[in-house]
Amino acid sequence: MAEFPTTSLSGRSALVCGASMGIGRATARCLAAAGATVVAVARSQGALDDLVSEIAGSGGTAFALRADLDDRPALGAAIDRLLAERGPQHILINNTGGPKGGPLLAASEDELASAFGRHILAAHLLAGRLVPGMTAAGYGRIVNVISTSVREPIPNLGVSNTIRGAMASWAKSLSRELPPGVTINSVLPGFTDTARLEQLAQGRAGREGTEPDAVYRAWIAEVPEGRLALPEETASAIAWLCSPAAAFIRGVCLPVDGGRLRSI
Ligand SMILES: NC(=O)c1ccc[n+]([C@@H]2O[C@H](COP(=O)([O-])OP(=O)(O)OC[C@H]3O[C@@H](n4cnc5c(N)ncnc54)[C@H](OP(=O)(O)O)[C@@H]3O)[C@@H](O)[C@H]2O)c1
Repeated sequence: MAEFPTTSLSGRSALVCGASMGIGRATARCLAAAGATVVAVARSQGALDDLVSEIAGSGGTAFALRADLDDRPALGAAIDRLLAERGPQHILINNTGGPKGGPLLAASEDELASAFGRHILAAHLLAGRLVPGMTAAGYGRIVNVISTSVREPIPNLGVSNTIRGAMASWAKSLSRELPPGVTINSVLPGFTDTARLEQLAQGRAGREGTEPDAVYRAWIAEVPEGRLALPEETASAIAWLCSPAAAFIRGVCLPVDGGRLRSI
């Protein structure tokens, strides 16, 4: 009888974007705890340095790579240097800051183009650079952090809804092209207790003339689990998709939303 596949990431290298806080930071910690060597990407050097120390303190290995996903030429050059110095990255986590809230018609063309660049073009650049090494290694995992809005668009997040759908479609298309052993999947976080959610709560409270606490209560009322997710819970799902145990899962969108989505 075949052995059950492992969830260990020992011997694997992982590039984690948006790793300075929130879901990305928890994902970097979770992948390191599973044995991966983590390259943590974001713009905030201090927060990345803290993360690297925290991972080292827990017996893991991580490096900081300061980069701005809005500056793709510099990002591409930094990734080329990284690959030359450290070899292939077996895991890529595409994750970055969400676009600002508001109705779609109020958004400028520049806002849409900039969100497209930071999410889709950056992910496309990174996949283009990393997939050859994954293919040569015979092991690759790409996981995109998107949103439940892929399934059910969220009111007042017009630009975000648009970009999330594009990202899911990009990922599904790529899942049909990648070679055996190299998978791509997406995680759709629900309400997760991070700085991003705080920002959205304050924005909605301002628009509705209420307090952020009231916004949180309204959100939580929609969640059968009756609470927000911890970033660590989302990270656990991401880390599992990155593991050998998920080898036959490909091209899916996995909600981590405490059951909030009503669609099947
Ligand atoms: N929290 C939720 O409830 C929730 C729900 C659904 C979807 N999401 C989505 O899931 C993703 C992660 O959410 P989160 O709550 O963890 O967000 P977050 O707390 O705002 O963290 C975003 C991360 O992205 C990095 N980042 C932002 N702009 C960047 C850029 N131009 N270049 C490089 N890094 C950049 C930030 O680091 P620096 O500022 O240091 O660069 C930070 O590490 C976002 O797209 C969010 O919209 C979140």
